[in-house]
Amino acid sequence: MIDHSTIERIFDAAQITDVVSEFVSLKRRGVNMLGLCPFHNEKTPSFTVSPAKGIFKCFGCGKGGNAVNFIMEHEHLSYPEALRWLAKKYHIEVEEKEVTPEEIAKQNERESMLVVTQYAARLFTETLFHGHEGMALGLSYFRERGFGDAILKKFEVGYCNEKRDDFTQKAIAAGYKSEYLVMSGLTIDREGYLFDRFAGRIMFPIHSLSGQVLGFGGRIIKKDPKAAKYVNTPETEIYHKSRIVYGIFQARQAISREDRCYLVEGYTDVLSMHESGVENVVASSGTALTQEQIRLIKRFTPNITMLYDGDPAGVKASLRGTDMVLEEGMNVRIVMLPEGEDPDSYSKKLSDEEFKTFLKENETDFIRFKTRLLLDEAQNDPVRRANLVREVVRSIAVIPDQIARTIYVKESSRLLGMPEEVVLDEVLKLRKQQTFRDRNAWPVQDAVVAPQATVQKQKAREETSFYSERELLRLLIRYGSEVLTRETDKETGIETVTTVADYIISQITEDELTFEDPLFTTIYSEITFNVTQGLVAGERHFVQHPDPAISSTVVDMLTEQYSLSRIWSSRGAFVETEEMKLRDIVPDSVLKFKGDKIKMMQKEIRRAMAEAAGDDEKISELQARYKAMTSLQKKISAGLGGRIVL
Ligand code: GTP
Ligand code: MN
Repeated sequence: MIDHSTIERIFDAAQITDVVSEFVSLKRRGVNMLGLCPFHNEKTPSFTVSPAKGIFKCFGCGKGGNAVNFIMEHEHLSYPEALRWLAKKYHIEVEEKEVTPEEIAKQNERESMLVVTQYAARLFTETLFHGHEGMALGLSYFRERGFGDAILKKFEVGYCNEKRDDFTQKAIAAGYKSEYLVMSGLTIDREGYLFDRFAGRIMFPIHSLSGQVLGFGGRIIKKDPKAAKYVNTPETEIYHKSRIVYGIFQARQAISREDRCYLVEGYTDVLSMHESGVENVVASSGTALTQEQIRLIKRFTPNITMLYDGDPAGVKASLRGTDMVLEEGMNVRIVMLPEGEDPDSYSKKLSDEEFKTFLKENETDFIRFKTRLLLDEAQNDPVRRANLVREVVRSIAVIPDQIARTIYVKESSRLLGMPEEVVLDEVLKLRKQQTFRDRNAWPVQDAVVAPQATVQKQKAREETSFYSERELLRLLIRYGSEVLTRETDKETGIETVTTVADYIISQITEDELTFEDPLFTTIYSEITFNVTQGLVAGERHFVQHPDPAISSTVVDMLTEQYSLSRIWSSRGAFVETEEMKLRDIVPDSVLKFKGDKIKMMQKEIRRAMAEAAGDDEKISELQARYKAMTSLQKKISAGLGGRIVL
């Protein structure tokens, strides 16, 4: 078994052109690369590689996929074998283990814990937004602090009722085993009596990188000097405090887009910054970052900016922890907030623009910041000054990159008023003394794998609705976040924006329709799950999907329309792209999808009629239903403008 984080590293490393080039000679053609297809015999090249999308596609034989799919196909390897093949090429060490029965049991246990934790998160949000007490105490608390519903929903915050075993009893009544409730830290077992750990608290779920809820932080909202302000999920089989940072799931896209990660202390700081439009932010939960947390952030950016409250003593204490971040080769900057402010309060005090500008204009390089801070403090005290030099030198010495070190030596010697050679000498001395850890010797993080429905092999395409299901998914994946309509309320002036995803999902949800194809069902639920998180599971997400069945299916979907997407106007001079036609295509595709569902229901009814032969009452009932379907179908085809032949 290859663990999850190794798979992710392999996907990160395996550039499609690099992988394909081992077997196919490629020539640049516009943004793509073109070559002769290795999977069928051809004289003119129709095998296309898109470096930007990370996919290959042959327009001759139809084969397509990501780098792993290519190796599977070309080398006739299974999925794990292809991963190993690529790991070898990119010198990635694969942690392989035999799976023992105990490990399988552990895995099942973890999955059960993930399931109850997910249930708890849902129940807590439900309680916050719809429960009597939740609205009166929890929601009003959030509102008073100025948090909008969109942010509360994005972070799936919730509320746990005050009654001391309210949650536990509900969970048990819903069929969850108390064993797992206790194991996942939600319930405390005191000599057989079960209590809620989080009674009377507002709940901040802590998500894994892939969006699984692993644990919670619960904040008290009533004044109670005896109770801790926050209670967190204890260490469990699924929640390891030192491996996750709060907010990474909601921030990861923004972090890579902005190529920077802001680090704050509190849950509410993260929420407030999102509210101000700064989404590349995570929280350390009040402690120094661990190596695993730093590496987690480093997967998205090498640049980290730490926000400190304007309290000098506190800042000095937390500076100690940052050497670890430097040691990991991150570029560290500091923003100091005005005295008495934290990111939550300060972002609310300023307008979004002002806050963003403040962050930009006030960030200082870490070494410079530290030197200045300590200089201020040491004044002319010679002993303190000597200590200061040692402190600064220590921070420089841990930086892995030699060029960066040289620059810092220059800079700090100037600030300290000391000759460069002296500082450099100190740095070198320290580096010799220190036994620097073998950077690669650290254990690979044992990632929590989401309990995922095992994807079945794609069925034969017999279902009537196969193509309309596929088309809806294609539109969702490709254009989900595109704006479909904008409507302004004449009275209030409030603009409502509907995206393609909003439209399609609401249409499907309203009529309680489902997908027939099991693979499509999985893809669709992944899309909707992400939408509830305010995220878009788009092309990139699916093309790089670790499940090869999903990635190759999606690549198929996305590439097929390359040739179809251009709709030529009658004069042939003007090319209308699919994007320009979304307002027609999307509703049409939804109607086609619905039409197909009706056809399938009618087929079902016909079958039932045949079976019911002789039972007149039953038959006439079925006939009535059949007729209702037919008139619905007529309505739908009218909506389609007669374009779909039924
Ligand atoms: P507000 O005071 O509501 O703005 O919350 P905050 O998240 O800003 O809290 P604060 O700045 O006081 O603390 C920062 C972080 O430290 C919190 O988000 C928690 O993760 C952690 N923390 C604070 N107080 C406690 C506590 O009493 N127990 C534990 N375990 N963690 C705490
Ligand atoms: Mn705060």
